[in-house]
Amino acid sequence: MTPFRFIPLVVATGTLTASAGEIAIETKHSALVLRVEAGKEPLVIHHGKRLADAAEYAKLPDRRKAADDPTGVYGAAYTTAGSRNLLEPAIQVTHSDGDASLVLNYESHEAKQLANDVQLTTVKLVDPAHPFHVTLYYKAYIEEDVIEQWSVISHGEEGAVKMQKYASANLFLTGKHHYLTHYHGDWAREMQPESEELGAGIKILDSKLGTRANLFQPPSFMIGINGPVEEDNGEVIACNLAWTGNYQIALEVDPARNLRVIAGINPFASEYTLAPKKEFTTPALIHTWSGTGSGDASRNLHRWARKHRVLEGEGTRQTILNNWEATYFDFNEEKLAALIKDGKKLGSDVFLLDDGWFGNKFPRNDDHAGLGDWEPNKLKLPHGIGHLVKEAETNGIKFGIWLEPEMVNPKSELYTKHPEWVIQSPNREPHYYRNQLVLDLSNPEVQDFVFGIVDKILTENPTLGYIKWDCNAVIFNAKSATNPYPAHLYVDYVKGFYSVMERLRQKYPKLPIMLCAGGGGRADYGALKYFTEFWPSDNTDPLDRVYMQWEYSKFFPSITMAAHVTDWGKQPIKYRTDVALMGKFGHDIVVSHLDEKELRFTQDSLKLYKELGPTIWQGDLYRLVSPYTNDFASLMYVNESKQEAVWFNYLVTGSRKNLGSDGAVKLKGLDPAKRYSVREVNLYPDTKSPISGEGSWSGDYLMTVGFSPQVTKERDSVILVIREAK
Ligand code: DGJ
Repeated sequence: MTPFRFIPLVVATGTLTASAGEIAIETKHSALVLRVEAGKEPLVIHHGKRLADAAEYAKLPDRRKAADDPTGVYGAAYTTAGSRNLLEPAIQVTHSDGDASLVLNYESHEAKQLANDVQLTTVKLVDPAHPFHVTLYYKAYIEEDVIEQWSVISHGEEGAVKMQKYASANLFLTGKHHYLTHYHGDWAREMQPESEELGAGIKILDSKLGTRANLFQPPSFMIGINGPVEEDNGEVIACNLAWTGNYQIALEVDPARNLRVIAGINPFASEYTLAPKKEFTTPALIHTWSGTGSGDASRNLHRWARKHRVLEGEGTRQTILNNWEATYFDFNEEKLAALIKDGKKLGSDVFLLDDGWFGNKFPRNDDHAGLGDWEPNKLKLPHGIGHLVKEAETNGIKFGIWLEPEMVNPKSELYTKHPEWVIQSPNREPHYYRNQLVLDLSNPEVQDFVFGIVDKILTENPTLGYIKWDCNAVIFNAKSATNPYPAHLYVDYVKGFYSVMERLRQKYPKLPIMLCAGGGGRADYGALKYFTEFWPSDNTDPLDRVYMQWEYSKFFPSITMAAHVTDWGKQPIKYRTDVALMGKFGHDIVVSHLDEKELRFTQDSLKLYKELGPTIWQGDLYRLVSPYTNDFASLMYVNESKQEAVWFNYLVTGSRKNLGSDGAVKLKGLDPAKRYSVREVNLYPDTKSPISGEGSWSGDYLMTVGFSPQVTKERDSVILVIREAK
């Protein structure tokens, strides 16, 4: 446990508050250090490796570079607009008297030990000219090297304050060169990485999609300080903005070539009116610093997410047979009964009924109608959902269901009854995304409706075991019919979504729910507080998934990353299965189409997953061989005791001869002093492994010399289990 370290220059006796000094927010390896002085704006004077002697933070200069800073606030901890700052602000407001300038001086700070290894530091700031306050929050997860950073804004002015910008965090990084790795994409092309050196000026990563951050780009990124982001070397900061809506991350290289990172809700069309005595809490930026590359940064985030953020992050996961790709909208009770039996035969824990089960006046037989009318379709399911839940139970499998409760098709009873619940503009041609519109979750009645839909189905079917929560549409024509503040819509939508999820989680604290948004539209740590896993992409082509899962793994632990075997792609079932096994395993296949060997193989792989699941879910991930620079990808999970590791290898190019792992791959994360056996698992029926499984090697040998997984064109996916040899 690290004690809170504040190094006062002049301590005001009898209080925690000091009039000047350094506030060190420290984790096991990192420190974010602020210099504060009463009546002055706080500065970030260090963000990087933690110093052994905290007293030496006081020796740090205000500025680490000689270049002129005529403002004195390039390194501000929360940069204000309208006064002496000339750079991108973190906060911009117009006071109730019309004054559009803001200064935020240090007032006091406090540090609280929330748990053994969690400390919360709060720094209170005040405007000397107005009763306007911001408190900066830094929650340090010491063991995991993660900081969760956000702000709370309030005021005691005569009237409302208009907030044009209200960021979560304002990072300040010194260094000679700064590199950014970020992601973009589209439907079925999620998590395409891009890396670049940041030049002078501002680079903006943002989303204006409203309901979901991703489609174009998710709120995850990494910064390489003094060099591009590398797996095992260099200073890296990995970040995710915990917000399931419009966000903006501005990366500004300042005139002294420092990097300022201002991250938060997107100010776009979102001027927020803050009434006196009300508080506005920004979402948090989750960030971790690593001095040893992105591998450690990822492991920090994984450990943090499992322990502190994701629902049931340290728990187990169920395997799923989903019917979406097997039937799409075309099913009835008989068909489902057969699929449920197939799920049992396969060995899945849950049968998940996807889209198409509801709507009567406007039956959901394709994606043009029915969204919003959450009554079982009487023609397809004359005996309702309860009957299917029982049918599944009789067959010894749980039943799960798909919902998209935030959305509506204009062809629905809900739309006819409540057009005022729909986000749309009366003056504009409607624009649809997948033929649907978004319900206005900023309206408390709509929140009740959405909560009610889920609550009803769970109350009527208390043994229902799983929900897939979809969210396909983005917001067009962003107009609320009821929100008294039109510009609050984007923000209040997300707050409304969280408030529904809060209520649901109070009543159903543990129910597994998948966060799906037409693919990986909502991969963020704001939503993952309420969900057990997310759907990374509708693209389940295993070759594409090798890359996508590789990238997602930089930020999210495998236990959250749903990966299903489907009929996408040209690879054999062995390859498709091996790729899905590295995540939260499941299936979306027609079981009856499997031949005898394929079925046996699939059944065995589900049994294997039960055995290896704990290491895959909770183990430390080591990315060994990158698919971008090699013929194959290689990665492994090592359990905490370092007694077991699961090692995945996938050939990523198949057209040439002599491809694959012709040499040894150096393993990582093992105990050098332990001896290990190496055994191939998940072999396809009637195939033999060239890896005998005999003998043992020290961890030192495996990490120094390595071991060849013998990936070849003929063996294009290989899973090996490394176990301590007793
Ligand atoms: C989009 C999801 O990503 C798919 O898995 C499926 O659930 C469809 N929606 C259903 O409409």
